[in-house]
Amino acid sequence: MVFLAVSAVSGQSVDYKKQIAPILSSKCNECHTAKKRESDKKPKAGLALDTAGGIRSGGVIDPGDASGSDLFIRVSLPKTDDELMPPADDGGPLSAKEIALIKKWIDDGARFGSGSGGGVGKIAADLDVAKVMAMPLREPNADGVAHLEGLGATISQLAVNLPQHLVVEWISTYHKTTDKEIEQILHIAPNVVEVDLSRTKVTDEGLKHIGKLARLTHLNLSRTQITDKGIAHLSGLRSLEYLNLYGTGVSDAVLPMLAKHRRLKSLYTWKTKITSEGLSKLRKALPDAKLVLETDAKANRYDNLDNPDDKYDF
Ligand code: HEC
Repeated sequence: MVFLAVSAVSGQSVDYKKQIAPILSSKCNECHTAKKRESDKKPKAGLALDTAGGIRSGGVIDPGDASGSDLFIRVSLPKTDDELMPPADDGGPLSAKEIALIKKWIDDGARFGSGSGGGVGKIAADLDVAKVMAMPLREPNADGVAHLEGLGATISQLAVNLPQHLVVEWISTYHKTTDKEIEQILHIAPNVVEVDLSRTKVTDEGLKHIGKLARLTHLNLSRTQITDKGIAHLSGLRSLEYLNLYGTGVSDAVLPMLAKHRRLKSLYTWKTKITSEGLSKLRKALPDAKLVLETDAKANRYDNLDNPDDKYDF
């Protein structure tokens, strides 16, 4: 039987949205969903299987290796095993076909997009910060997430119960990340709340794209080529709370612009042309903000001279 089922799913690639999500939502969501608002219960084992972000951040899949992935292991156990998912008295086990689909999906790389390549569409030329703000905060576009991951980005959700809020970083691929890749972030623009561009090749022009991410609260631009001109493109980011400019070419000219970010709480200006006089003026404009010019305990965290590759994160 299992053999037949496996051959039934071989060949064609498995589509997450059409074939995997329906299994997870009918057989797992009773226990593993982030949206248990009525009962206010947490998902079992902290694992939310109702969103791509939840599955990804749950650490239960190893793309390309089903037999090493907890999600597959737990559904393929014998009926007598206590660890079987779903539990035997709650609808387990899945059918042989469902198990085979999950196996093939993970073995093929566990992609959340349609895999058709054409799924992301075009970024609207007139997209701006006001339009992004007006977009409802929904489940992120899975094709957009997959597309950006294909360009080397690491995407995670801000918290297990916040599947719509995404953090985008370029961790090991920063050295080949340019404005072109960064622009693709606009496919998921309404969902992005934190972006780490440190050490990427982002330019002042590239910050035009970042300036459209209306819900952005954290932005790390440390050790990039950006200058005062780039910061001007961020003027519409009203939610910005954290901005790291360490090791960039910015000067006191950006301070009047930054004074308009009323929510700004942390600003890192170490190793820039910003002066302490400039900062004391900004301090008056933003009395609650923590403004860091010189190296302090926190700044030290990203000046790890013994290991310059050690990445500072938020
Ligand atoms: C009736 C509730 C229930 C259902 C339905 C259910 N689970 Fe679970 N699941 C749990 C509980 C409780 C745990 C934590 C205890 C454990 O590890 O056995 C868990 C744990 C897990 C874990 C281990 C997570 C970790 O980080 O250790 C995985 C993977 C998992 N479930 C996958 C699934 C999948 C896939 C489905 C659907 C095919 C599913 N579960 C359906 C209740 C459920």
